Amino acid sequence: MANNTAKLDLDGKIYELPLIVGSENEKAIDIASLRAQTNHITFDDGYGNTGSCKSEITFIDGDLGILRYRGYPIEELAEKSSFIEVSYLLIWGHLPNKAELTEFSNLLSQEQTIHANMKHHFEGFPSTAHPMAILSSMINAVSAYYPELLEGYNPAHFKLQAARLISQVRSIAAFSYRQSHGLPIIYPKKSLKYTPNFIHMMFSEPYDEFVIDPAVTKALDLIFLLHADHEQNCSTSTVRMVGSSRANLFASTAAGVCALWGPLHGGANQAVIEMLLEIHASGDDGRKFIEAAKDKNSGKKLMGFGHRVYKNYDPRAMIIKKACDDVLKALKINDPLLDIAKHLETAALSDPYFVERKLYPNVDFYSGIIMRAIGIPVEMFTVIFAIGRMPGWIANYKEVSDNQGTRIYRPRQIYTGPINQKYIPIDQR
Ligand code: CMC
Repeated sequence: MANNTAKLDLDGKIYELPLIVGSENEKAIDIASLRAQTNHITFDDGYGNTGSCKSEITFIDGDLGILRYRGYPIEELAEKSSFIEVSYLLIWGHLPNKAELTEFSNLLSQEQTIHANMKHHFEGFPSTAHPMAILSSMINAVSAYYPELLEGYNPAHFKLQAARLISQVRSIAAFSYRQSHGLPIIYPKKSLKYTPNFIHMMFSEPYDEFVIDPAVTKALDLIFLLHADHEQNCSTSTVRMVGSSRANLFASTAAGVCALWGPLHGGANQAVIEMLLEIHASGDDGRKFIEAAKDKNSGKKLMGFGHRVYKNYDPRAMIIKKACDDVLKALKINDPLLDIAKHLETAALSDPYFVERKLYPNVDFYSGIIMRAIGIPVEMFTVIFAIGRMPGWIANYKEVSDNQGTRIYRPRQIYTGPINQKYIPIDQR
C-alpha cells in the first residue's frame, strides 16, 4: 500500500504529515498541523511551492502546457463555447442547459445599466486617469449602491450579484474609456449580446452607431474566454484572500483588479505593445532587445514571455497566435508589430538563455496585437483582461464562501528585523 504520510525528521524526532492527492494526481504534504506539532513554519518566498487551497475550478499542468476549466480543455472551449457559457461553467460548475443559459443571459441584460447616481463618480476622475484606477474604484463603489451586499455572502442572492458584476464591469470599463477620452457615455442595448454590447458602448456615438464586424466580436469574445480563469494567480489569490475575511463580492473583486494592474501580471499585455513599439521605433528587428532582456542590469525583460507555472508553451498563447493571424487577415490589417513579435518569438525560442529557463510566450504576447487591430487603446488592455477574469474571480470567491471550513487567510512570516529596540525621545535622536 502506498504511503499516505510524509515523515519529517526534525531535532531528532520523526513527525508524520498527511499527504493530499488531487484529482489530476498532483501531490501535496499537508503541513497545517506542523507549527502546532513542531513550533516550525514552512518558508516559501513568493508562494512558488505553496498550495493555498483545494479548488475544483481550474487545472493547469505547467510542464505539459495543459489548461482546463472544470475539466474541459481550453482548446475545446475556445473552439466551441462562448465567454458567457464559460462564465456560467466556471461559477456554477457545469455547462448550462438552454434554460439556464437563457436565465443567465436575461439577468445580464437586466443588470447591465449602472446606477444613474454613479455618473458623477466618473466625472470626478481626471481625464488622465488610467482606466484600471477607474475600474477598481467603481467596482468597489457599486457596493455602496446595493446595501444588501453588506449582509455578506448569501447563496440565495448570489446569482443576481454575480450577473450584476459580470454585466456592470463591462459597462464601467466602456464608460471609463469614454470618460478618459472626453467622449459622451454610450449606454448598453438590451438587444445586443455581451461582447457586441461592449464594442457598441466603446465605439458607437450618440449620432452614429458603430457597425460591429463579426470578426471583431469573435476575437474579443475569445480573448475574454481565454482569460476567464487561471487558478491561483496573484489577482485570484487576492480575491480569495479578501473574500476569506467575508468582505463583499464587489470589494473582493475590486482588490483583484488592483492586483491585476501590475506589469508582471495583467499589465503585461500593455507592456508588450509598448515594448514592440519601442523596438519598431528604434529600427531594431528584435535582436538588440533580446540581448538587453538577457542582461539583468538592463532593467528590461522580454514582456509576454515566461510564466511562474508554464514551463512550456502557454496553451492560451497558441490559440491567440492563430486568432491574431485570422483577425488581421479578416480586417485586412498589416501590422509591423506582428512581424516583430513573430521574429522575437523565433529568436527567443532558439536562444539558450530562454531555452534553459523554459521561457515561452504567454497569453499576453499576441493578445495586444489583436486588441490594437480592433481599435482598443493600449491603456484599456488590462481592463479587457479584468472583464475576462471576472467569472474566474467570482467562481473563486464563491468557492471560498461556500466552504463552511474556510478560515481567514493569514500567512505567517519569518521576522528578520531588529530586536529589543528602546524608544529614544525625538530630541535625543
Ligand atoms: N525576460 C527575461 N528573463 C526572464 C523573463 C523575461 N520575460 N522571465 C523570466 N526571466 C528569467 C528571470 O530573470 C530568471 O532568471 P535567473 O534564473 O537567471 O535569475 C528566470 O528567468 C526565472 O524567472 P523567475 O523570475 O523565477 O520567474 P517568476 O516565476 O518569478 O516570474 C513572470 C514569472 C511571468 C513574472 C516573469 O516570467 C516575467 O516577468 N515575465 C514578463 C512579464 C509577463 O509577461 N507577465 C505576464 C504573465 S502571464 C499573464 C498573467 O498571468 O498575468
